[in-house]
Amino acid sequence: MHFRLDAGKQDFHRTDMDGVATFRARIARADETAITEAAAILRAGGLVGMPTETVYGLAGLATSDAAVAKIYAVKGRPTFNPLIAHFDSLAAAAREARLDATAERLADAFWPGPLTLVAPVAGDCRISLLARAGLDTLALRVPGSATARALIAAAGAPLAAPSANRSGAVSPTRAEHVAADLGDRIGLILDAGPCVWGVESTVVACLAEGPRLLRPGAISRERIEAALGGPIAEAAPGQTPAAPGALASHYAPNALLRLNAAQAPQGAVVLDFGGRIGASGRGLRLDLSPAGDLSEAAANLFAHLRALDAARPALIVVAPIPDRGLGAAINDRLRRAAAPRPAQGGAGA
Ligand code: TXA
Ligand code: MG
Repeated sequence: MHFRLDAGKQDFHRTDMDGVATFRARIARADETAITEAAAILRAGGLVGMPTETVYGLAGLATSDAAVAKIYAVKGRPTFNPLIAHFDSLAAAAREARLDATAERLADAFWPGPLTLVAPVAGDCRISLLARAGLDTLALRVPGSATARALIAAAGAPLAAPSANRSGAVSPTRAEHVAADLGDRIGLILDAGPCVWGVESTVVACLAEGPRLLRPGAISRERIEAALGGPIAEAAPGQTPAAPGALASHYAPNALLRLNAAQAPQGAVVLDFGGRIGASGRGLRLDLSPAGDLSEAAANLFAHLRALDAARPALIVVAPIPDRGLGAAINDRLRRAAAPRPAQGGAGA
């Protein structure tokens, strides 16, 4: 059924029912040779697994409608949920969108790094309308990962890159996670080891009505507010601009989740934090951070969820996580992982 893709070639041997090409992904250490090979695939309109400091991305040319259409198809992502364009420098990003003084201040403080800015598109913006889901705003980020920036530079164009998981499922923080989710749909995954942050970038809109926090993420609200010199408003549900992918069921494992648990009922597995639940249950237990460190917990979150889910439990109980700093992003992901699931699809990213 599966065929190995020759390096750099984008021909494939069959397509499945969605018209998505069938591959068997190769995981390659992200050295210069592999980055050059990945850039050739991208320039030919193909997709690759790209490491970033937050989660692994499914990358394609952001300037190509055809490449972006493949991204939506490979992830099974609804096309009304726009993608982030990744740049190798602030100067490159500033060519495609109008960054106001607030956006520039945040970019200066956090780029390269795990912050995404949403800004009005420039008049001559080259980013695919499909990547923007038809909006006249654009999500932009300059990743902190040197591998990601080297890949963007070698591709010679900004890269659209949602998290490299099936839409609505748990995000990938290791190359193996990408292979497990999308390995039959892409040819090459660059491996730069486990992601240092482990949760996605913080999304901040900088539009006419002032800055709005659209998605909590690796840069905590406290750090954003310190850079702005004051509090930041949140986008209320239903209010524009909302992050179209920031609602509903998302990041969902197969098992059901129960949050803020004090102990483990019979048969449940445990996602612990700081030993709160401890060895009360007899089943599998993974601790996000035995020492109660929120950075360590964020870095372990998706890998631990995947490992617990692999044991095929009916229920994962999760210890309470403090809501400060990175805890806000962790709790956001857990709440959506625990949300009632649509029968199919959803707006997952
Ligand atoms: O850390 C990250 O941001 C990762 C890595 C790979 O860079 N990417 C990521 O992409 O999380 P994705 O597609 O899973 O999430 C992008 C989020 C979605 O919630 C989407 O709705 C929102 O950004 N977004 C994109 N364009 C937008 C726009 N113009 N206005 C509002 N929200 C937007
Ligand atoms: Mg996602």
